[in-house]
Amino acid sequence: MKIITNLKDLQEERRTLAQSEKSVGYVATMGYLHEGHQALMKRSKAENDITVLSIFVNPLQFGAGEDFETYPRDIVRDQQIAAQEGVDIVFMPDASAMYPGVSTIKLHVTDRADVLCGKSRPGHFDGVVTVLAKLFHLIQPDRAYFGLKDAQQVAVVQAMVQDLNFPLEIVPVATVREADGLAKSSRNVYLSEHERQEAPVIQQALQQAKQMIADGENEAENVITHVKEFIISKTSGRIDYVEILSYPALKPVKDVSERIIIAAAVFFEKARLIDNLVLEAD
Ligand code: PAJ
Repeated sequence: MKIITNLKDLQEERRTLAQSEKSVGYVATMGYLHEGHQALMKRSKAENDITVLSIFVNPLQFGAGEDFETYPRDIVRDQQIAAQEGVDIVFMPDASAMYPGVSTIKLHVTDRADVLCGKSRPGHFDGVVTVLAKLFHLIQPDRAYFGLKDAQQVAVVQAMVQDLNFPLEIVPVATVREADGLAKSSRNVYLSEHERQEAPVIQQALQQAKQMIADGENEAENVITHVKEFIISKTSGRIDYVEILSYPALKPVKDVSERIIIAAAVFFEKARLIDNLVLEAD
């Protein structure tokens, strides 16, 4: 496994790979790897000759007062996991290498970002697409793997690749969960023991929403109200949002007959957790 920190070395490596015509799969992460990230690596390994993993905590996508400084990091363990998954290249640049001076160009997301996490975290998706544009240029993958745990990110990145004609395929991968249903996340380490017990309630509430819809409820507002009440009554968390939108366009829906996402974000003491379900149209 090659570990590359320098941008020029990565570009050199990529030129060499291009001569061999090997297909390249790519997994972008901020590290503190867990089984969710590993599912993306496994899928990339299965579908490509070479798998590249990036580990970069991107300052541009964190807002003021968010957890950029305290974002969990363990680079030694991350490298062990990457090696165990058979990753070929780990790219882990410094922030000063990725952003060496004052930036003149930043990308701005004009649709799909004024709802859900984009609404609660203004500028977040601008930071995500700006770093991914740079990483896609550097790595030039044939396929890039993204988790549906961050379903809005998948929708935004798919739109970016289409709008800006990046010659690569975005492959969405199902959310990996703990045995009790909690979506795996690097931020779960922030939960107190008590909060960790409560956190699976978010997924339970979303499953109840799915059941309500299967049982014939088609008013989005009624489903949202139930999800909110369930989470409030069963956890100490504070709701950031519960929304039902079309997917991947992320537009408001009144009834729930089209392909929709039911998504929730909940603040605990030190962590903000997100989860969602995408339901196919009937
Ligand atoms: P990060 O939160 O580290 O996530 C990296 C990738 O792993 C994302 O595609 C995310 O959706 C996926 N992932 C996280 N938890 C998962 C789970 N439980 N199941 C399946 N996939 C999961 O998302 C980012 O980093 C950043 O925004 C990034 C894309 C790297 C840009 O900086």
